[in-house]
Amino acid sequence: MSEIVLNKAFKECNENRCRYKLVMGGAGSGKSTNVAMDYIAKLSNPMNYGANLLVVRASEHSHAQSTFAELDKAITALGVRDIWEVRTSNLTMRNKYTDSVIYFRGCNDQRALERLKSITCKSGKLCWVWIEEATELRQTDVDIIDDRLRGELPENLYYQITMTFNPVSATHWIKSVFWDSTDPNIYRCHTTYLDNKFIDPQYAERMERRKLTDPQGYKIYALGEWGVTEGLVFENWTIGNYSDKEFENLSIGTDFGFNHAHATLLLGERDGDIYVLRECVCHNMTKTEILRELSRYRIPKRIPMYCDSAEPASIKEFRAGGYLALPVEKEKNSVKAQIDWLKDRRIFIDGRCVNLLKEIGQYRWIMDTVTGEYTDSPVTINDDCIAALRYGIEPWRKNKGLKSIPKGALSL
Ligand SMILES: Nc1ncnc2c1ncn2[C@@H]1O[C@H](COP(=O)(O)OP(=O)(O)O)[C@@H](O)[C@H]1O
Ligand SMILES: [Mg+2]
Repeated sequence: MSEIVLNKAFKECNENRCRYKLVMGGAGSGKSTNVAMDYIAKLSNPMNYGANLLVVRASEHSHAQSTFAELDKAITALGVRDIWEVRTSNLTMRNKYTDSVIYFRGCNDQRALERLKSITCKSGKLCWVWIEEATELRQTDVDIIDDRLRGELPENLYYQITMTFNPVSATHWIKSVFWDSTDPNIYRCHTTYLDNKFIDPQYAERMERRKLTDPQGYKIYALGEWGVTEGLVFENWTIGNYSDKEFENLSIGTDFGFNHAHATLLLGERDGDIYVLRECVCHNMTKTEILRELSRYRIPKRIPMYCDSAEPASIKEFRAGGYLALPVEKEKNSVKAQIDWLKDRRIFIDGRCVNLLKEIGQYRWIMDTVTGEYTDSPVTINDDCIAALRYGIEPWRKNKGLKSIPKGALSL
């Protein structure tokens, strides 16, 4: 095995054997690379004979571009490719000598959860789990994974769940349940880009600029601190499981994007409260690709879709693709009026809408740098899903065009 070149900040972390290991920090601090290298090193070492690793992300198909790619890079970096069999077709990695396997699973739908629960190791025990972007999981998902790690282990092994994540919101369950807990089975590691000696200089410069222009954002993204709730626009929301509930009143909101994310949300209304049932968020995709994604995420075609009126060409393309796309009439101060309307009711967000959850937990009012008071304009960074939410509620806010759809129309 080649000599591993790791960031020093993770040394103690990699040696720790607590059941729950939290690797939290700012973006670009080297968390994912470190964990991938550490697991490849451990699973390449015959001392850990009998160990198997499960890698979890909320969405199963995001592994290919992230965790699988990181672990594959680590195999090269450590010079151990000859002992690993890497299968891209069904995303598995196997150590040819020890038979240790790395499994990749998701947990944001029932089928994925079943696949996760039904893993049977051909040899040894499933003792290690790496949950990447752990804030995207619901607490119940982590409980299911935790339950899998039980039973006697040979002396050389130990159970461990490593969760890597960037802090998203001070109100996130992971903070209260794990980060703030005094349970001795929890180990915490916190790093920032300043701990990563491999970070490219342009990235570091961008972060330094952000320190000046958006100090609160810098604290969260760059320094990886839990955001403060002060100045948040929305605190009237709850996470739950709502995606398969039936609603009489449905609506879809869309914010077009290419460089910025494209965001579409399926919303339901009941007794004056808003439910966010599904989201479809795409990056750098053409309209044809987005239309394909919308159907994959089961965004129904029979429901009016309210879109940014500044993009008539995109609206036309969506109509040609079969969606009832309509422009939202913008009036003066409509953003503020939509926010006020949303603040007056409860917003129930399905746990699978991970992008909206990230945005809403950080969406805050701009602070006047002279007076230190919050203004009544929101910061317009990372607000693509929020924009889709604002558009999607327009039929209800304007109290017209309430669309009733027959029961069961959601099960496309
Ligand atoms: N040990 C390492 N060796 C080489 N490059 C590294 C190492 N650790 C981090 N990097 C580089 O730093 C960048 C950020 O690392 P990453 O693991 O993606 O951070 P995070 O997961 O904290 O956002 C990546 O481009 C990665 O290649
Ligand atoms: Mg990462």
